[in-house]
Amino acid sequence: MIHPEDVIAAKRDRRALSTEAITAFVAGVGDGRVVDAQIAAFAMAVVLNGMNARETADLTRAMADSGRRLRWDDLAGPVVDKHSTGGVGDKVSLILAALLAACGAFVPMVSGRGLGHTGGTLDKLEAIPGLSVEADGAVMRRILAEAGCAIVGAGPDLAPADRRIYAVRDVTATFGSEALIVASILSKKLAAGVGHLVMDVKVGSGALLPDEDAAQDLAQALVTTAAEAGLACQAVLTDMDQVLGRTAGNALETAEAIAALRDPAQTEPRLLAVTLALAGAALALAGLVDDAAAGERQAMSALHDGRAAERFARMVRAQGGPAGLVDRPERHLAAAPTIVPVPAPEGGVVAAIDVRALGEAVIDLGGGRRRPGDAIDPSVGLAAVAEIGQRISQGEPLAFVHASGDAEARRIVPHVRRAFRLGGEAVTGAGPVRRVVTG
Ligand code: URA
Repeated sequence: MIHPEDVIAAKRDRRALSTEAITAFVAGVGDGRVVDAQIAAFAMAVVLNGMNARETADLTRAMADSGRRLRWDDLAGPVVDKHSTGGVGDKVSLILAALLAACGAFVPMVSGRGLGHTGGTLDKLEAIPGLSVEADGAVMRRILAEAGCAIVGAGPDLAPADRRIYAVRDVTATFGSEALIVASILSKKLAAGVGHLVMDVKVGSGALLPDEDAAQDLAQALVTTAAEAGLACQAVLTDMDQVLGRTAGNALETAEAIAALRDPAQTEPRLLAVTLALAGAALALAGLVDDAAAGERQAMSALHDGRAAERFARMVRAQGGPAGLVDRPERHLAAAPTIVPVPAPEGGVVAAIDVRALGEAVIDLGGGRRRPGDAIDPSVGLAAVAEIGQRISQGEPLAFVHASGDAEARRIVPHVRRAFRLGGEAVTGAGPVRRVVTG
C-alpha cells in the first residue's frame, strides 16, 4: 500500500518517485482519497525539488489516465490543437481555434482557467453571455460537427486529476514547475484525443517560468514527453515581456480577439505575428500544408476573407452564445462602469514592463481568482496598454484601468504605474516570436 504522505515525504527529501508511487498518488487525486492539503504539499515539493524526465512522463500518463480518453477516428481531417504555458493578455487561442478550423483542421481545444497571475481561455470565453464551456465527449462532437472547433473545459471525466491539481496550484504559488506544467498540459491533450499539438511557450516577466533557459527546457520537455506518448508536438517560444495585444482582462480580451478576427489589418502586430506563427506551425505539423510559411499564408487569407470569423461565430452559437456577437460585440460583452487613465509620472520611452504585476493588477480588480471557485468580474482589466519602445510624454496614459468602481480604480492605478519603467532610449525588444523547438 502506497500512502500519499510517503510520496510527499520522498519528494520533499529529493528522491525520485517510482512509477508505482506516482500512479498511486494520482489515482488518489482522481478518486478523492488524496485531500487538497496533500496535493498542495506534493506540488510544493515538486516545485522545489523537480522531477526527472521519467517521473514527468509517468505523471503525465497517470493524469491522462485518471479519466477517459476521447477518440476522433471518424472525423474527416486532422485533429489539431494549440496550448499556451500561460501569459497576460494572451487571447491567441480564441483566434487560433477558429483559424485552424477554417483551414481544414478539427480543433477540440480543452483549455484552462487563470493560473497564478496568468489569464485563462475559459474565463475569457465565459465573458460571452450564455456561452457554456461545459461539454462531455458527445457535446464536443456536436460542436465540432457544427463549427470545426470547440473550446471547452475538461469535464469531470477528462483528466480529472489535473482539474484538482490545477485549482490547488493556482492559489498556492506552485504553478512554476516544469514537470507540473508539462503533465498538466499534456494530460489534457492526451485525454482529448489530440493528434498534433503546437505549444506556445512564453518567455519573460509575465510567463510562469520567466527565464529564457527555463522556458527553453520547458519547451524541450513538452516536445519530448509528448512524442513519447505518441503526440506530435512542436513548441514556439514567444515573448511575454509585455502584454500580448493591447488588453488584459476577460471581456476586454475577448473583444480584442473578435476585432482581430473581423479586421486583421488593425490587429496589434505582435498579437498577429504570434497567432500566425502558431497557425503556420500547426497546419504544417498536421500535414495540411508543406511548411510553416505556407501555413502562415493560408491562415492569413482565412483571416482576411472572413472564414475564421465565420467559424468563431459558429462555435459561439454552438456553445450557446449570442448570434450577433461577432458583428456587435459591444452589445453583448460586459463593460466596466469606471475607466480611468494611468498617467505616466514622467516622459520617456517604455524600457521594461513587469508583466506579472499587471496580471496581478487584473486579479486585484476582480478579473481573476484568489481562492478556488472565486467569482470573476468579466468587465474589469487593462486596455490600451503601452508597449516596449513606445515614447510617452509626462501625463500620457500608460494604460486605462477598467474597474467596478472609483475606489477600486484608484487603488489599482499606482500598481499599474509602478509596473512600467521609463528610460531615455528607444528599446528594441527581442521580437514576439523567438524560436521554434522541434523533437
Ligand atoms: N496551462 C495548463 O493547462 N497547465 C499549466 O500548468 C500551465 C498552462
